[in-house]
Amino acid sequence: MLARLHEEARRALDPVHHDYYAGGVGAEVVLAENEAAFARLALLPRVLRGSSRRDLAVDLPGGRSAAPVVVSPTAFHRLAHPDGEVATARAAAAAGAVLITGVASTTAVDEVVAGARSVASHPAVWFQLYLDPAPGVTDSLVGRAEDAGCGALVVTVDSPVFGRHTRDAANGFHDLPAGLAAANMRDLPGGPPGGTRDIGMSADQSWDDLRRVVERTDLPVWVKGVLHPADAAEAVAVGAAGVVVSNHGGRQFDVVPAAVDALPAVVDAVAGRVPVLLDGGVHGGGDVALALALGARAVGVGRPVLWGLAAAGEAGVRQVLDSLVDEFDHALALCGGQRPSDLTRDMVVRRGAFG
Ligand code: FNR
Repeated sequence: MLARLHEEARRALDPVHHDYYAGGVGAEVVLAENEAAFARLALLPRVLRGSSRRDLAVDLPGGRSAAPVVVSPTAFHRLAHPDGEVATARAAAAAGAVLITGVASTTAVDEVVAGARSVASHPAVWFQLYLDPAPGVTDSLVGRAEDAGCGALVVTVDSPVFGRHTRDAANGFHDLPAGLAAANMRDLPGGPPGGTRDIGMSADQSWDDLRRVVERTDLPVWVKGVLHPADAAEAVAVGAAGVVVSNHGGRQFDVVPAAVDALPAVVDAVAGRVPVLLDGGVHGGGDVALALALGARAVGVGRPVLWGLAAAGEAGVRQVLDSLVDEFDHALALCGGQRPSDLTRDMVVRRGAFG
């Protein structure tokens, strides 16, 4: 299903935009590893203890998700489909999935939330942002997310500098086409009047900057882009409500491990104090089950959602989410589980290295 939608998306998209979505940094080692690492793992099902009445819902700081699959933040959805982020929001809300909408969105966050609310009364929409070098800009973005009704903030910390995207450099793709803009970056302090400010990243960002955000908002703050267990512990210490193990889908640094390989040590460091999410390379319900067994409370999907959106708009995103959840439910049944927390680390083995 996901492979078919990707093929349809490839046909629908301008090849340069397809490369922008699909690509990674360097030789795209990490991009490939994210998926390959899942294929190196296997599940040992438990038997004679399951149920035909399975409950897939997970409670997360910032909202409940009908299943442990959430939409990771990805940029510029109107490159994929004219309905853009609103289509994604409607599909996620209809599926009961948490949507993490990003600062790099071609639709302003209040319109994204309105889209989600047009199909569900209490959709969970979270807002992802970077720590801008100008604290006033970060504060404005946080204020916009709060005013829009977002349930949580997700601060991405793996981008002190922009990743060097190999395919974009080769294609000369640096700017959005005319008519599209990073809508959340309009009318910010220090930006051009009536225009959009560049998305700010800074190698000078520190834990104090993150703490400042935590202290100034009532929303739960997730920290996205953690790979080192000591950073996960630090995030908890500054008041993070959750940690997202992620290598940005292989789009930042080509020398890091696969996300799922980094997961267990982060789960151990966090030691149950806050939930851990994982994204990167999830492309089937079995991957969801593996990540949960290794301690993730839920997984995020980035590119699969973009493929659904490009292939068939809102209906395509819905197909992606429904198929992942359906496959996960099937995997849970085969593992003798009734709810996501029934998947445990003792059920995961390395393929070929068992026994
Ligand atoms: C991303 N990702 C991302 N993450 C983030 O925190 N802010 C952002 O603006 C973006 N933008 C973005 C654009 C595109 C085109 C992609 C593919 C990804 C990373 C994203 O949230 C997530 O970590 C990965 O996409 C997960 O990997 P998979 O599911 O794509 O394999």
